[in-house]
Amino acid sequence: MNPKELYKQKLISIPDAVGKVRSHQTIGVAMAASEPPGLLGELAKHRDRLESVRVWVCLPLGAYDFVLDPSMDGHFFVENWFYGNSDRAVHGQGCESYIPNNLHEAASKKLYAANNKVNVFFGTATPPDARGYMSLSLGLVIEKQLIAAADLVILEINENLPWTLGDTQIHLSEVDYIVENNVSVAQLPVAPPTEAEEKIGGYIASLIEDGSTLQLGIGGIPNAITAFMMDRKDLGIHTEMFTDGMVDLYNAGVITNSRKTLWKGKMVGAFALGTKKLYDFVDNNLCVEFQQGSVTNDPYIIGKNYRMISINTALQVDVLGQVCSQSIGSRHFSGTGGQLDTHRGAQLSEHGRGIIALRSTAKNGEISTIMPVLTEGAEVTIPSQDIDTIVTEYGIADLKGLCLRDRALALINIAHPDFRDKLKSEVMRLGIVPHF
Ligand code: COA
Repeated sequence: MNPKELYKQKLISIPDAVGKVRSHQTIGVAMAASEPPGLLGELAKHRDRLESVRVWVCLPLGAYDFVLDPSMDGHFFVENWFYGNSDRAVHGQGCESYIPNNLHEAASKKLYAANNKVNVFFGTATPPDARGYMSLSLGLVIEKQLIAAADLVILEINENLPWTLGDTQIHLSEVDYIVENNVSVAQLPVAPPTEAEEKIGGYIASLIEDGSTLQLGIGGIPNAITAFMMDRKDLGIHTEMFTDGMVDLYNAGVITNSRKTLWKGKMVGAFALGTKKLYDFVDNNLCVEFQQGSVTNDPYIIGKNYRMISINTALQVDVLGQVCSQSIGSRHFSGTGGQLDTHRGAQLSEHGRGIIALRSTAKNGEISTIMPVLTEGAEVTIPSQDIDTIVTEYGIADLKGLCLRDRALALINIAHPDFRDKLKSEVMRLGIVPHF
């Protein structure tokens, strides 16, 4: 059939599309900036006819009633791979829970549908071209797997989405229904670096040699530090998330991708989240390759890159080098995402390095982020046996191969000076290191 006819045939209203969902079904939703705000905003209006609908999400950005309104309890239950702001707000109410995962496991169906079934997929795409092909645009972490698994595929078409390249194409014939919603695309603002972040940026830059391939994670620090790499040459990108900082490095001629081992000449990643600057950059850009999360985050694929450096951030680290990036004590905060995947992948690479960078204190300097032990209930994102390098504004702790005593010392030396004596005495009191 002619693509224009096919499009017309599949086009329905947003209420009609959500009307296809039945009680006890699971809806798989595209993640982050590729989530469909029209379909998700509509869900709550169907509360009275829906019971026990599971909604599987990952890093949702919008504030939706089906998540936030307590009267939705029993009608919707959210299963989440990576929390955003709304999820943190409602976690204590019991209508949402976190699924522990490593992001490369996008290919493992067991992990994104507790009942091993995705009935409906809600996603977004660009308008189709003359041949009926669309681009899945800003998210390719798990979207293709969800589409393949779902019985019913519904796409929200938004002409403001960039047309991204790589493995992003989908044809109208693979979709059951289409809705239209030309809203502005969700953005993640970038804050200017703080003094501590500038120091961290300087230390990290000292660890990056020309020709390295970088992964930069989510959070303030990985974005802030790109400004300190402006004098490097021929960097490449193999990442999970494309960020604004990468655009600056590319425009400055620092990222050329010319010395990469895999996808030479191209930046490769699975999703983009940032400002309009980033979305304009990835639009129809032949040097930006979107691949599925099961590919970009496979540690063995990451490890094939020469001089692969992963840079992620954390909330807390204990003196053994156990990293917590996803909870504040027992309060779940975000997710593992690709942190362990990329940290491990970088260490499999020849001359690679896995870096965790964090400020030495939190809460306006009131608490140390380097602790004798993690706070009770904290979720371990990187175990001590995997940790490689930790950076704060006080320096670099190169932990690989160090015994527990030397690790503790190296970490205490990059803790905030106000906390160092207390850390030492606590570590000895607890018998982690009997004496230094
Ligand atoms: N104890 C208590 N609270 C802490 C804390 C600590 N040790 N460290 C930070 N916090 C608080 C901050 O004060 C802040 O609170 P606020 O929101 O009330 O201001 C909050 O936690 C977030 O801290 P911040 O450092 O600003 O977070 P961020 O936006 O830079 O994100 C992570 C940092 C670690 C949460 C984020 O990077 C993450 O989720 N990482 C895991 C996934 C990942 O790295 N994936 C990599 C591939 S994309």
